[in-house]
Amino acid sequence: MNIKNICCIGAGYVGGPTMAVVAQKCPHIKVTIVDINASRIAAWNNQDLSKLPVFEPGLDKIVGEARGRNLFFSTDIDQAIDEADMIFMSVNTPTKTYGKGKGMAADLKYIELCARQIARVSKSDKIVVEKSTLPVRTASAIKNILEHTGNGVKFQILSNPEFLAEGTAVQDLLNPDRVLIGGDTTDAGQKAIQALVDVYANWVPKERILTTNVWSSELSKLTANAFLAQRVSSINALSQLCEKSGADVHEVSKAIGMDSRIGSKFLKASVGFGGSCFQKDILNLVYIAKTYGLNEVADYWEQVILMNEHQKNRFSDNIVTTLYNTVSGKKITFLGWAFKKDTNDTRESPAIQVADNLLSERAHISVYDPKVVEERIYADLDYLNTRSSEENRALLQVSNDPYTASKASHAIAVLTEWDEFKTYDWQKIYDQMQKPAFVFDGRGILDTKALEKIGFVCYKIGSGS
Ligand code: NAD
Ligand code: UDX
Repeated sequence: MNIKNICCIGAGYVGGPTMAVVAQKCPHIKVTIVDINASRIAAWNNQDLSKLPVFEPGLDKIVGEARGRNLFFSTDIDQAIDEADMIFMSVNTPTKTYGKGKGMAADLKYIELCARQIARVSKSDKIVVEKSTLPVRTASAIKNILEHTGNGVKFQILSNPEFLAEGTAVQDLLNPDRVLIGGDTTDAGQKAIQALVDVYANWVPKERILTTNVWSSELSKLTANAFLAQRVSSINALSQLCEKSGADVHEVSKAIGMDSRIGSKFLKASVGFGGSCFQKDILNLVYIAKTYGLNEVADYWEQVILMNEHQKNRFSDNIVTTLYNTVSGKKITFLGWAFKKDTNDTRESPAIQVADNLLSERAHISVYDPKVVEERIYADLDYLNTRSSEENRALLQVSNDPYTASKASHAIAVLTEWDEFKTYDWQKIYDQMQKPAFVFDGRGILDTKALEKIGFVCYKIGSGS
């Protein structure tokens, strides 16, 4: 089956970049990305490519090349579904905030709404692709919904989880370690798999396209994120032991990472992992294990989350303790609010919890992030409901310049590893701060020896010296 028309439901951090790359690499396929969020679609259609709703290095160029040629952004979901022979579901699957499984299970209401809309609108056979991260066996629920339309349309359901990381999405999509496609073992299922393999084969070497059954594919996505997050929690657990024992976690990471069985990636100690995926997907894994009665399995993975919470809290606790046990009325400057560098995404960013803890201690916070806008920062804090939004605005200011942000502050806390932080004029920052001037490097990116020479008192995560 030759795919000519693709629809992607969900124009978010995954749908947007993923489909932009498909459109760029497959000029013979018409790709339409649809969303219920009209302002998001309008932003994707913005003539000014610096105003796209998702910031990813290199994405503006790709959208600029394909948009209007074979890449379209629209709110007309019915029409895009009707025209497509392949439909990607790339909607959000957040942790449930209500009812059974609250705080753990994935909320599948957006996926189900998509499936119902596809069922209602479709007049011709279609391949439906799960691009969202979903609990294992979701495909059978989707199948049930699609097969009860009564209009004779045949659907094949594939699982094709996305492994891109934010900040490197374009590179990850252009040059993926692997593409995973799960489908039915029937003839029709295998044909559908082949149709999607053929799309990716336009730019991904065939040996990197892995096909499996649906359940393996669905579960591999949750497993990959759990393993990655587990490495971060493991090294973060050790970072505290390093601080106590005089070891240096950066040296330990290097030493163990050179063992080819361990590998060097994902061993960077930090103030904690953030992002929309790790916590949500592990909680989901824990929930699934519990529903099968596998309590030991659930407890094992839950520990990855608990360690991450601990890491964020101990970072803010350390700031309070070091600043003579009180930060009340003191100004603390945050460098970075995004959950990692090179993205404007702040979902589950460790900065949010660290700020909330310090604001509860009545600190005054001043934030500078190169890409995160002011209203996002306030929305993140307001969402926690710890205090009124007026109080949040009174206690926390957002600045668009790092030197203004750090003026007269008692301490600087590095929450995101943006490269530009390394090249600031730190003498200038020091000169305008209260003394003693403290730096808390939650990402281990600064040259603390040089800062100490200037006069700063430095704390670097995982550094015991
Ligand atoms: P997102 O919130 O940025 O985007 C989802 C979009 O879907 C939103 O714009 C929303 O308006 C839209 N939407 C929801 N219901 C809809 C409906 N019924 N019809 C049309 N549009 C609808 O989310 P995201 O970060 O792109 O994540 C999407 C999925 O991909 C999630 O399951 C996530 O776990 C997974 N994922 C995310 C990443 C990542 O780095 N963000 C990586 C891999 C996988
Ligand atoms: C992750 C997965 O990497 C990706 O494959 C999946 O598709 C989505 O979830 P993402 O959350 O975008 O991607 O970024 P990632 O690079 O994995 O970083 C997640 C968090 O872990 C960030 O807060 C990052 O700063 C932190 N991290 C990562 C560390 O603290 N140390 C590390 O060594 C690596």
